Amino acid sequence: MMHFPTYASLSLLLISPLISATPASQSISQLSQVYDTTDRLPLPNQGNIVAHDPNILFWEDYYYLFKGGVHIPINRAKNLSGPWESVGTVLDGPSIIDTQNRTRPWAPTTIYANGTFYCYYTLSEHGSRTSAIGVATTTSLGTSSTWVDHGALIHTGKGNRSEIWPFNITNAIDASFITDNVTGQSYLNWGSFWHDIWQVPLSDDLLSIKNPEAPDAVQLTFIPDQKKKPEEGSWMSFHEGYYYAWFSHGKCCKFKTFPARGEEYEIRVGRSENVRGSFVDKDGTKLLDGGGTIVYASNHGVVYAPGGLGVLPASGNGSDILYYHYLNTSIGFADEDAHLGWNYLNYEDGWPVVVDGVGTTSAGSILAIPSWLAFITAMCMFHL
Ligand SMILES: *[C@@H]1O[C@H](CO)[C@@H](O)[C@H](O)[C@H]1NC(C)=O
Ligand SMILES: *[C@@H]1O[C@H](CO)[C@@H](O)[C@H](O)[C@H]1NC(C)=O
Ligand SMILES: *[C@@H]1O[C@H](CO)[C@@H](O)[C@H](O)[C@H]1NC(C)=O
Ligand SMILES: *[C@@H]1O[C@H](CO)[C@@H](O)[C@H](O)[C@H]1NC(C)=O
Ligand SMILES: *[C@@H]1O[C@H](CO)[C@@H](O)[C@H](O)[C@H]1NC(C)=O
Ligand SMILES: *[C@@H]1O[C@H](CO)[C@@H](O)[C@H](O)[C@H]1NC(C)=O
Ligand SMILES: *[C@@H]1O[C@H](CO)[C@@H](O)[C@H](O)[C@H]1NC(C)=O
Ligand SMILES: *[C@@H]1O[C@H](CO)[C@@H](O)[C@H](O)[C@H]1NC(C)=O
Repeated sequence: MMHFPTYASLSLLLISPLISATPASQSISQLSQVYDTTDRLPLPNQGNIVAHDPNILFWEDYYYLFKGGVHIPINRAKNLSGPWESVGTVLDGPSIIDTQNRTRPWAPTTIYANGTFYCYYTLSEHGSRTSAIGVATTTSLGTSSTWVDHGALIHTGKGNRSEIWPFNITNAIDASFITDNVTGQSYLNWGSFWHDIWQVPLSDDLLSIKNPEAPDAVQLTFIPDQKKKPEEGSWMSFHEGYYYAWFSHGKCCKFKTFPARGEEYEIRVGRSENVRGSFVDKDGTKLLDGGGTIVYASNHGVVYAPGGLGVLPASGNGSDILYYHYLNTSIGFADEDAHLGWNYLNYEDGWPVVVDGVGTTSAGSILAIPSWLAFITAMCMFHL
């Protein structure tokens, strides 16, 4: 999720002199100046649900989708393309964290560990680093779950321990989670503009930061030389010996004005054999030096500003799935217009690549669908 500091918003206005009116008042041909029309990337498989910063957990035959919204809405479906049913919310009222926007958390990440589901959520406001990451738990995920809100793990801007480094320079939003495959130690990743993305070890109960007065923090991503540092929405996945640090880069929201083409959200990744980094991109550039290989971005003049991603680990079907929100240029550009999209991932030399279409083989490798077949499949899926 995201927020530009004021200077970033101003600089975007200055570099986008051609784009001034709201989208609704502009023709497609005017907007094509800012839409990427590439067909190099595949279209999404459509999730057929509105979701900003989607988070998905597969549990007992259902995909559970958590998203930013009042009390953190939960939907579930047996198919990532829907139909989705609402199964309540994580919180039953405002978060117990004493900070702003307590009724409408952002960017949840829910994980399962040792019989318990942990939902890490963000409280913040656009353009502010007065933020907090909280956590709620339940022991059963279904149509009538009872969650317990445990409150904040991290405050930035104000609140308990917000003066402790690196909480004193970062923005406590967009939590993600990873467990070290060898040691079993779990970590929380977070951050955005204001020093980008960071990682700290979690205590064994997963409800607090380990050693919070002097946390063993490492930085995962950073853009050193530019004033604008639009990296956020971290995710971490593990595949065949590598940890993958994913993030969204660019302008996420508030597209009343458009940035120059390519400055909107896109999905980037780097990898490391060590959960703590350092992470490098495909060209060998460190994520701490502004690196990040683009895995998914605006395409076809249809998909705009994809981000807020997560990765569903391969199950019996053999392929990891990258899911994210995107704006459809023929629908609209408000946060509430963001839709769930997803693609299977293939790994080429250990680097994730999004795959066209819905096909996988049962043996675990991707069956890349020829584009003419994908087109027919898409016609069948979406228009019949
Ligand atoms: C999921 O939904 C899509 C679109 O409706 C459909 O083509 C596909 O067959 C479904 N998959 C399963 C496993 O039901
Ligand atoms: C956060 O709260 C402020 C008021 O303090 C409000 O103007 C803003 O719309 C809220 N943002 C979100 C995302 O709910
Ligand atoms: C797992 O949960 C059980 C039961 O709640 C608890 O006794 C045990 O300490 C937990 N183990 C870990 C590693 O958290
Ligand atoms: C700070 O910590 C104290 C003691 O744990 C707690 O009572 C208080 O609610 C916390 N404040 C905030 C803003 O979370
Ligand atoms: C953050 O905390 C560190 C360690 O105490 C300190 O050196 C640094 O000056 C602080 N930064 C800010 C911006 O307060
Ligand atoms: C750690 O990862 C390796 C390589 O993917 C795998 O073979 C091994 O089973 C994993 N170990 C654990 C404890 O998950
Ligand atoms: C795997 O595919 C089967 C059949 O296509 C489907 O029923 C199942 O839900 C899928 N599981 C996952 C985790 O995608
Ligand atoms: C975009 O929206 C149009 C109009 O609703 C729809 O026909 C098309 O399938 C959508 N494409 C994507 C990728 O969402």
